[in-house]
Amino acid sequence: MRVLLVGSGGREHALAWKLAQSPSLGELHAAPGNPGIARHARCHPIRAEDAEGILDLGRALDVDLVVVGPEAPLVAGLADALRGLGVPVFGPGRRAAAIEGSKSFAKEVMEAAGVRTAAPLPEARAPCVVKADGLAAGKGVFVCRSQTDVDAALLALGPDTEILVEELLEGTEVSVFAVCDGRTALPLVPAQDFKRAFDGDEGPNTGGMGSFAPVSGIGEAVLEELVSEIHRPVLAELEARGMPFVGLLYAGLMVTDDGPFVLEFNCRFGDPETQSVVPVVEGDLLEALAAAASGELAGLGLGTAGRAAVTVVLAASGYPAEGDRGSPIRGVDECEVSGALVFQAGTALRGERLVTNGGRVLAVTGVAESVGAARAAAYAGVERIECAALRFRSDIALDAAEGTPALGSGGARTD
Ligand code: AMP
Ligand code: GLY
Repeated sequence: MRVLLVGSGGREHALAWKLAQSPSLGELHAAPGNPGIARHARCHPIRAEDAEGILDLGRALDVDLVVVGPEAPLVAGLADALRGLGVPVFGPGRRAAAIEGSKSFAKEVMEAAGVRTAAPLPEARAPCVVKADGLAAGKGVFVCRSQTDVDAALLALGPDTEILVEELLEGTEVSVFAVCDGRTALPLVPAQDFKRAFDGDEGPNTGGMGSFAPVSGIGEAVLEELVSEIHRPVLAELEARGMPFVGLLYAGLMVTDDGPFVLEFNCRFGDPETQSVVPVVEGDLLEALAAAASGELAGLGLGTAGRAAVTVVLAASGYPAEGDRGSPIRGVDECEVSGALVFQAGTALRGERLVTNGGRVLAVTGVAESVGAARAAAYAGVERIECAALRFRSDIALDAAEGTPALGSGGARTD
């Protein structure tokens, strides 16, 4: 199979790493990719947002499958355009991608599908959550516990942003990914990510500073129940509306004392959850993505390797407000020799030298038989990276490693 992977982040590096292990892979191409992805794929200097460029490339390479990583090209209709050319795509069309692109559409679909989500509130009064109604890369959400928080949120979003206000849910967050072919949903191992910038869940929301998988308390039976209650009704609703969802349906859940509620849907793999999920998925992910793209997922299964993974993101010191460019990065090889996986995100090559080129720069993943051991491997790897311009959280997966149940008491359903 000749595959084109669209995107350039740590998520795409993790996908490239996994796809490269598939016996059914012939050639892997990436657009635009990054220096890490270039170790597994031939990179083409075409931006993910350049739909014409991607279409031309897909045609020129005569690819058998396009896997689209980021949300923006999906929401803009890249998958529809590729399908129009007869190219199989793992990624939803524009209308189905609105499940991520428009929070009000997502709410409407959830209501129609009978999926529980945070209740809308008529006004921005604390406690509440204030959200921008559009794509904001995880940065358009303000959890407001006081009226001061509300005022700050409204100021940050500005008067021209469409906003939604909803009830503030308390509990444990879990990201549940399912590979979907429009009808069938095949769940992947559940993960947790760490969205706040600083230790102790302090600071602004970011794209994600770390992750781990699996999540204790969500074994196969609970996972199956979650997917049956959440992903499958949403797939059925979208199909009934003539916009079948083919791609990765990511449910961001809050597991409360009263059970699971959906915080958001994303129409693509999560970043940095993918860097923890993919290393513990056992089996041929490429085969599953290709089967999904051609509507033939039924009957296929993907196992988990019975291992755990923890991912620590190294981000620019000023992230999420600012990225960093051009600072030298050393120690990637040493980090890999230590046994950790290094997934590159905001990196570039200056001559032979690897340098920073963005907000989230590297993701270091430890894989081991337990979350505790995976965490130790991840941080041992991080120690080998030398770059003055980067920082990381030191408490990723700390509670999970210490055996604190990942789910609140009432939500602690186990199988
Ligand atoms: P979203 O982009 O909607 O997932 O929101 C980003 C983050 O904000 C989530 O991962 C949660 O940490 C938090 N969040 C969003 N909605 C709520 C809610 N209704 N209650 C509590 N936290 C929320
Ligand atoms: N890790 C959150 C996201 O990918 O949206």
